[in-house]
Amino acid sequence: MGAIHIHGGIPLQGQVMIQGSKNAALPILAASILTKGSNLFSGCPRIADVEQMQMLLRSLGCVVRWEGDKMRVDAHRVCSGSMPREAVTGMRSSLTLLGAMLGRCGQIFLEQPGGCVIGSRPINLHIDALEKMNVKFARGDSILYACTEGLKGAEIHLACPSVGATENIILAAVLADGCTVIHNAAAEPEIVALCAYLNVCGAHIEGAGTACIRIEGVKELTGSAFEIPADRIVAGTYLFACLAAGGSVFLERAPVKEMKAVLEVARALGAGLQCTGTGLYVQAPNTVKSVPCVRTAVYPGFPTDLQSPLLAVLAGGMGKSIVEERIFEDRFRVVPELLRMGAKIRVEEDKTAYVEGQECLRGARVTAGELRGGAALVVAGLGASGETIVEGKKYIDRGYENICRDLRELGARIYSV
Ligand code: UD1
Repeated sequence: MGAIHIHGGIPLQGQVMIQGSKNAALPILAASILTKGSNLFSGCPRIADVEQMQMLLRSLGCVVRWEGDKMRVDAHRVCSGSMPREAVTGMRSSLTLLGAMLGRCGQIFLEQPGGCVIGSRPINLHIDALEKMNVKFARGDSILYACTEGLKGAEIHLACPSVGATENIILAAVLADGCTVIHNAAAEPEIVALCAYLNVCGAHIEGAGTACIRIEGVKELTGSAFEIPADRIVAGTYLFACLAAGGSVFLERAPVKEMKAVLEVARALGAGLQCTGTGLYVQAPNTVKSVPCVRTAVYPGFPTDLQSPLLAVLAGGMGKSIVEERIFEDRFRVVPELLRMGAKIRVEEDKTAYVEGQECLRGARVTAGELRGGAALVVAGLGASGETIVEGKKYIDRGYENICRDLRELGARIYSV
């Protein structure tokens, strides 16, 4: 298993380009199978999860290839074949193929999708909503079979604004018979991007980015060119990396409008920030201040995906802070690893972390157990004294194109082995 070596304590300096968004790219790639045509995606991140999605699309009959830095997906011919098990079980986003395949072929066999081990991650909301749209489900030990004799528009009230469920309903609704309305829909920027892409292809979707999304089914979608937006979570990770290590950086293409809650927290920690038309300047404070309490929340709140990197910054800062996790119960799995680096963090009921900043963490050998926790260990290592070795690089590769290259561009001494 690959590892990342970091010589910490070197302030960051310079600029880096923020990659395309993983959580936007994956459902959009899944959505491309709804089009009977050819699609060209620019800004698609070259990450392990995108490779897995490429494999899945190929197994369903799509022709997928890179053309320079753009990805072409030709979905003229799609069949509901069997998909490679590892690609489905290794990645949560394979679940978006459920709505997309029901729209295109009327059926799908799916292994239980995997993804980061950050909580129980049920799929009841997806199933309940699709059943309302005339989908029948059969479940084996680890296999889910779904089929429909024709998708029908429906009025759907989500018990909570699940990102994945909102995506699946939209994907099933665009070619359904009639109108679908989703109440209490997720309003994340990745939903807005998915709907923008589908509308370019000929779908009729209104209200993306609000709690009520209305989808009028159409007969067919055509292939299109589309640019995947920049990744707000990667931008936030590098922002926190700068706060942990010190220095000043420019994050080119950082989607600042989607990062309001993160920027607010960074300012409270003492960061000097300047948003320009092309990105974000970050000036780290000499010592990171504490924050009374940060709670993760659905968009536009503070994203759960940046909770672990924030924890790493606070642990190496000053004073006492509280971090509350409201979305996924297992997001504090990174805490024992941070403790090895000298952090003082106490977690209560998997919901609240009490952090006592140590001003500087110390390098150690630590292990990533999932994607964002792994990124947090890199952030911690950049601010720590001495050498940090982060094992489990494969988890970080799921969402970061090349975290070592990006951080080296900012002057960090970091390399992978
Ligand atoms: C997506 C993102 C993930 C992000 C999360 C929240 C992708 C690939 N992943 O995950 O990075 O952290 O949104 O912003 O885009 N829930 C249920 N029943 C369901 C579905 C969800 O109870 O059927 C609960 C979950 O357990 C969780 C909450 O709803 O507590 C939010 O989950 P959801 O928004 O669905 O997250 P994902 O789509 O899995």
